Amino acid sequence: AEQLRIALAGLGTVGAGVIRLLEENGDTIAQRAGRPIAISAVSARDRTKDRGVDLSGYAWEDDMTRLAARDDVDVVVELVGGSDGPALALAREALGHGKGFVTANKAMVAHHGLELAELAEQEDAPMRYEAAVAGGIPAIKGIGEGAAANRIARIYGILNGTCNYILSEMESSGRDFGDVLSEAQVLGYAEADPTFDIEGVDAAHKLAILAALGFGTRLDFADVEMIGISRIRAADIAQARALGYVIRLIGLADCEDGGRLFQRVAPYLVPASHPLAGVSGATNAVVAEGNFAGRLLFEGAGAGDGPTASAVVADIIDIARGNTPPPFAVPVSALRHTESADP
Ligand code: HSE
Repeated sequence: AEQLRIALAGLGTVGAGVIRLLEENGDTIAQRAGRPIAISAVSARDRTKDRGVDLSGYAWEDDMTRLAARDDVDVVVELVGGSDGPALALAREALGHGKGFVTANKAMVAHHGLELAELAEQEDAPMRYEAAVAGGIPAIKGIGEGAAANRIARIYGILNGTCNYILSEMESSGRDFGDVLSEAQVLGYAEADPTFDIEGVDAAHKLAILAALGFGTRLDFADVEMIGISRIRAADIAQARALGYVIRLIGLADCEDGGRLFQRVAPYLVPASHPLAGVSGATNAVVAEGNFAGRLLFEGAGAGDGPTASAVVADIIDIARGNTPPPFAVPVSALRHTESADP
C-alpha cells in the first residue's frame, strides 16, 4: 500500500524520540498501520544542533508553517509546544490544507481545541492529540473511544508528573519542595516554565480536554479552578500520613445531569488504601467512571520522550488506518454547552 508521509515540526526530546521509534519499530508499525510511515520533511529552530538522530534523509524547512503546504506531506506532526504562536499557526495551516494533524500540545488543545476541531471537521482532515494528555497512557482513546458507549459520571486523576514526583519524593525522603523541584527539572519532566506544573496549569489543560471528551461538553479551560502545590511543606505531608492519607495533586471533573460542569485541580488528601495513593514518581493515572464499564483506571508514564513518542506514533498509525473519529468524539456542533460551576 501507499506510504503515509509525515512532516515533523519540533525536534526536541519528543521529536527525536518519534524519529527513533519510527526507525526502531518500523516493521511492526508498518504492519499495524497497513502501510509504511515515512518522514518527508522536518523543521526546528536550530538546524545544526546535534540531536543524536540522522536528519540527512529528510527535507528541511526553516519556516515550519511551510511544512503544511508541501505536496509530499500527508500528516503534520506538531511537537513545538506553546498555546499560540508558531504551533497554532502550523495547526491552522495544516488543517486548512486538509492534511492530517497530530499534536502533543496540551496548552494549545486546551485553549484552541474547539476552533481546531471545527476546522478539522470542515476540511474533513483527521486531528489526533493522544500525547497531549498523560504521555504514553492512551487516556484520550480510552475515554473517547473505549468508553464511548458510557455515560461518564466522573473523571479524575494524577495529571502532572512533575508534581507527583515532587510530592512522592517529599513523602519518601522528607526533603523540601524547592530541592525536589530542581531535581524534577534536571530529569526533564518539568515544563519550560515550571510554574505551569506546580501551580496546576498543566494539569488543568489536561483536565479540560478529558472533561470535554468524556462529558461531550464544550471545552472550557477558563472554568477550571486551580490550586497548586507550591505551599505544601514536608510537615503537611507528614501530618497527612499520620492521619492515614497521602497528598496528591488531583484533577477532578464531574458533570451533573443538568449540565453543570465542575472542574478543579488541587492537592487532595488521598486515603492510603486508594489506588492513586500508590502512584508515585513522574507517573500519571486517570480514572473514569462509566455507567456500564464501571471504574476504569489508566496508569503509566505521563512524560518523557519514549512514552510521549509512543502516543504520537499511535495517532499516526490511526490516521494511516483511516481511524479518524471527530477530535472530541462527537461533532463540535453537537457538544453541549454547560453552566459554569461559579455563581
Ligand atoms: N510537565 C508535564 C508533567 C509533562 O510533568 O507531567 C507532560 O505533560
